[in-house]
Amino acid sequence: MKKKITVLPGDGIGPEVTQAAVEVLKTIAKRFQHEFEFQYALIGGAAVDQVGEPLPDATVAACQQADAVLLGSVGGPQWDSVAAEQRPEKGLLALRKHFNLYANLRPVKAYEALAEVSPLKQNRIMGTDFVIVRELTGGLYFSEPRKKTADAAVDTLVYTRKEIERIVIAAFQLARSRNGKLTSVDKANVLASSKLWREIVEEVKVGYPDVAVDHILVDAAAMQLIKEPSSFDVIVTENLFGDILSDEASMITGSLGMLPSASVREDSFGVYEPIHGSAPDIAGKELANPAGAILSAAMLLEHSFGLKAEAKAIEDAVERVLQDGYFTADLSTNRFLSTSQWTAKVIEELDGESVAESICFSYISG
Ligand code: NAD
Ligand code: IPM
Ligand code: MN
Repeated sequence: MKKKITVLPGDGIGPEVTQAAVEVLKTIAKRFQHEFEFQYALIGGAAVDQVGEPLPDATVAACQQADAVLLGSVGGPQWDSVAAEQRPEKGLLALRKHFNLYANLRPVKAYEALAEVSPLKQNRIMGTDFVIVRELTGGLYFSEPRKKTADAAVDTLVYTRKEIERIVIAAFQLARSRNGKLTSVDKANVLASSKLWREIVEEVKVGYPDVAVDHILVDAAAMQLIKEPSSFDVIVTENLFGDILSDEASMITGSLGMLPSASVREDSFGVYEPIHGSAPDIAGKELANPAGAILSAAMLLEHSFGLKAEAKAIEDAVERVLQDGYFTADLSTNRFLSTSQWTAKVIEELDGESVAESICFSYISG
């Protein structure tokens, strides 16, 4: 298979983790005899610094020409005081909006090998395997008016029927292909947009008699995610709730660095990005966990290219490396591998042959 992938490394640890994911994709290409062509483009603070805007036209064009996009992360303290339109985060939001990537899939699972790393008790998290379907192009992130003076600030929360229907349908379809359980998270006891959301879930549910649906308020959902995470199968929710709940859910694995995501629409195009940010506190130090980015590359192969076996090979390799006790710094404070050492371990698993002699896996002591 011949495919074009545009890579948007972005800021902070973005370049480190996307590099890891690209190396893994190159290994997959070699092992499964595919041809992946990589093209790099600017986004976020890196784009602001080089060309004065967070999503240059050249980047949009590069994504347009590609079959899929792999993204690192954007943002950092050095851009905190720039004009609102120049914020690195604006580039990411504009990218999602431009390509109409309204469905953000964020899978969450407990890894046996990380049972001791998660701050949650092992007996609570074991067996956890769910997907958060986060609406990505509406709600508070995009609605107008939005303004701020010294004395007051306005954000607006709009959801149209069409926007809710399409994300809810995507979630029902996913639940149908999994364990047939859908949890819709809203704040229908307060927000008008949530009332409409809940009504639409009830309407759509008629077409999916094989899916069991429940509604839960977002505050209670935040609690339930910690109390009994294994009770979830598919969670569907609006943009901001999904953002917050997915960072919370990452603690089931033990690190924000573990979670991948796919930002998709009806066709096969998508932007694949770990859920974490640019982690300015550890950027450039080889301390980043590349698993979220590497697993995002696996999602890219499956969703955009239909390469299920290749995606599974990556997921299995990540799991085996963890099982073998190789951790990055976020997972283990005393003995850990650097970002590139850990990536090399994943590649070694994928290659099926040891490269241990050529790369010295000296442990860094924390
Ligand atoms: P963050 O996700 O960057 O970091 C939160 C904490 O998690 C930090 O301690 C960080 O070191 C740690 N962490 C995150 N990813 C990690 C990884 N892969 N390996 C090891 N540790 C990891 O969130 P933040 O500090 O709130 O935000 C920093 C910047 O990133 C902000 O500018 C924010 O807007 C941006 N951001 C971007 C994205 C994105 O590009 N998709 C997502 C979230 C935040
Ligand atoms: C994410 C990030 C983004 C979001 C920011 C950087 C705009 O937190 O992808 O989770 O809020 O969607
Ligand atoms: Mn987030």
